[in-house]
Amino acid sequence: MEVTARIAQLRAEIERHNYRYYVLDDPLIPDVEYDKLFRELQTLETQHPELLSTDSPTQRVGGKPLKSFAEVQHRTPMLSLNNAFNEDEVRAFDMRIREALGMAEVEYAVEPKFDGLAVTLSYRDGVFVQGATRGDGSTGEDVTENLRTVRVIPLRLGEPVADVEVRGEVLMFKRDFSRLNDEQRARGEKEFANPRNAAAGSLRQLDSRITASRHLSFFAYGIGLCRGADLPGQHDREMELLRRWGVPVAQQCRVVRGLDGLLGYYNEIGAQRAALPFDIDGVVYKVNDIAQQQQLGFVSRAPRFAVAHKFPAEEAMTTLLDIEVQVGRTGALTPVARLAPVFVGGVTVTNATLHNEDEIRRKDVRIGDTVVVRRAGDVIPEVARVVAERRPADAREFVMPASCPVCGSHVARQEDESVWRCTGGLFCPAQRKQALRHFASRRAMNIDGLGDKLVEQLVDAHIVNTPADLYKLQLLKLITLERMGEKSALNLLAAIELSKHTTLARFIFALGIRNVGESTAKDLAQHFGSLDNLLAADADSLQQVRDVGPVVAQSMADFLAETHNRDVIKQLREAGVYWAEHQAQPVTSLPFSGKTFVLTGTLAALTREQAKEKLEALGAKVSGSVSNKTDYVVAGVEAGSKLDKARELGVAVLDEQQFLALLESI
Ligand code: IVH
Repeated sequence: MEVTARIAQLRAEIERHNYRYYVLDDPLIPDVEYDKLFRELQTLETQHPELLSTDSPTQRVGGKPLKSFAEVQHRTPMLSLNNAFNEDEVRAFDMRIREALGMAEVEYAVEPKFDGLAVTLSYRDGVFVQGATRGDGSTGEDVTENLRTVRVIPLRLGEPVADVEVRGEVLMFKRDFSRLNDEQRARGEKEFANPRNAAAGSLRQLDSRITASRHLSFFAYGIGLCRGADLPGQHDREMELLRRWGVPVAQQCRVVRGLDGLLGYYNEIGAQRAALPFDIDGVVYKVNDIAQQQQLGFVSRAPRFAVAHKFPAEEAMTTLLDIEVQVGRTGALTPVARLAPVFVGGVTVTNATLHNEDEIRRKDVRIGDTVVVRRAGDVIPEVARVVAERRPADAREFVMPASCPVCGSHVARQEDESVWRCTGGLFCPAQRKQALRHFASRRAMNIDGLGDKLVEQLVDAHIVNTPADLYKLQLLKLITLERMGEKSALNLLAAIELSKHTTLARFIFALGIRNVGESTAKDLAQHFGSLDNLLAADADSLQQVRDVGPVVAQSMADFLAETHNRDVIKQLREAGVYWAEHQAQPVTSLPFSGKTFVLTGTLAALTREQAKEKLEALGAKVSGSVSNKTDYVVAGVEAGSKLDKARELGVAVLDEQQFLALLESI
């Protein structure tokens, strides 16, 4: 084949693989094959420098640093959006639109509001020729060389459209952000505050080789100007067209009708927000019909046909009043920030975790500082960083107490751990309370009605010291407690009675042994079949259990070596806690025995919990992280770093269809 033709063929093929890999997360060929194509192209281009061109995928690595960015006049202005902060404002928006259009119900295109920075990409005859930031909306900066390094941005469109501007947002995925910050930290360089800052900092680099190393991403949300292609009359179909040309469009983009459709979308995306692989700060509603958009027009710099419905801010600034130390179930001392109340992520926050002593040092948090508090989804609020410029002269450093603030026992820190622990064990009321909470929790003994407050009262009044004491509770004692009526006391006793019938796995889990989570408890129950077998096990026989390594075996052995732990177990059995015991299952008896699965992303046909149950019923182990012991990774929609890891390690990946087919084949 003629060299020019082969080069063109290689470029097209490599870009197609880039699209499959970076945009669809669904590569067609193994990395080595891709590398071969890439090297062949590089070789041909070196041999024929006259054939080198800027739209070649080999040019995505960045080039010579610039002195400054040139200015770019946008041919169509880059507008901003008006915001809506609550339902009433959305209702008013929908009403204005309906009135202006004289319609009872309007069709809207709905999209995430990406938290990155706006850019415009110009293509001539289908080739990427220029990219610019938004700037003030009419003049931006020429960041063409940097955008060329963004793998998901096509250097050539699927069709040779004469002249088109693609509008969208450059952003950094959360996993790339945390990787970047790990690297920055390791190099002793400044970390970025959030993915948006990291994306902006990476795009505005005069040295495009730095941008190339930063793993930026991009989603399109509109078309600026277009000549040489017939655009469809609806926004969603324009997005469809962009997708066909190879431009990334987020899969959360949708079409809905009326106010209910808008609010339903807001809630749906809001619920997914924390799990999405990239940051969003709201959703955007746009009248879908382009003729209607034109009829509605613009007010100053924002379209009348669109609005951004913002989520409550996930970060807010407040004062750190004090740092207190909480003691957890395993004795871990967690420093907790007491804050001046601040509204963040939709709720008022007064406490936030500081994780551990090392984190406090790393972030250089001091009492009296102004801090940024972050609350994402259901995650516990945390102190993200200090606003150094606002540090008062009398800010105090935090000192970890030398003894447990609850029971006074001394605290110890293992060399390889970042946490300090109280050595008091169940002597420490804080640990006792947590142990009881865990024992009663839904996935353990499932004692309905034994809430935190009640545990607190029972321990403080010395009525309950160990889990076994719960089964000795008496009505007359219970009703002496504050706010405890006869009816709730009876309900509680009934719930405790019900909890007696359990499973061996739940019982083991409920004991709250360090490093023995739900899945290890299931493995132990399955392996030993009876509690007596487990109690008789030594560290060696414990390590025969699937996925039990020296650490878990040691924790088990430590726990069983304590006579008071064995006493509690004995008392629980004497109190009537029971389960069906069975012969230890030979590990090979079920279809997936010995196989480890990891579930990632969202499955359409069943929840992750259901998938897990099905797999476990077939003997599989379902693990939370991918390692070279993993046999299969089941990747649903929006699968993230676990999928990357699987690919890295060469673990078999099943998509939902393949997974369902596998289940059915049994
Ligand atoms: S449309 C004519 N759609 O939000 C309307 N903008 O506050 C132009 N943004 O500068 C914007 N996600 O950077 C649109 N799905 C989305 C968006 C989005 C994020 C940004 C964009 C814009 C800013 C306006």
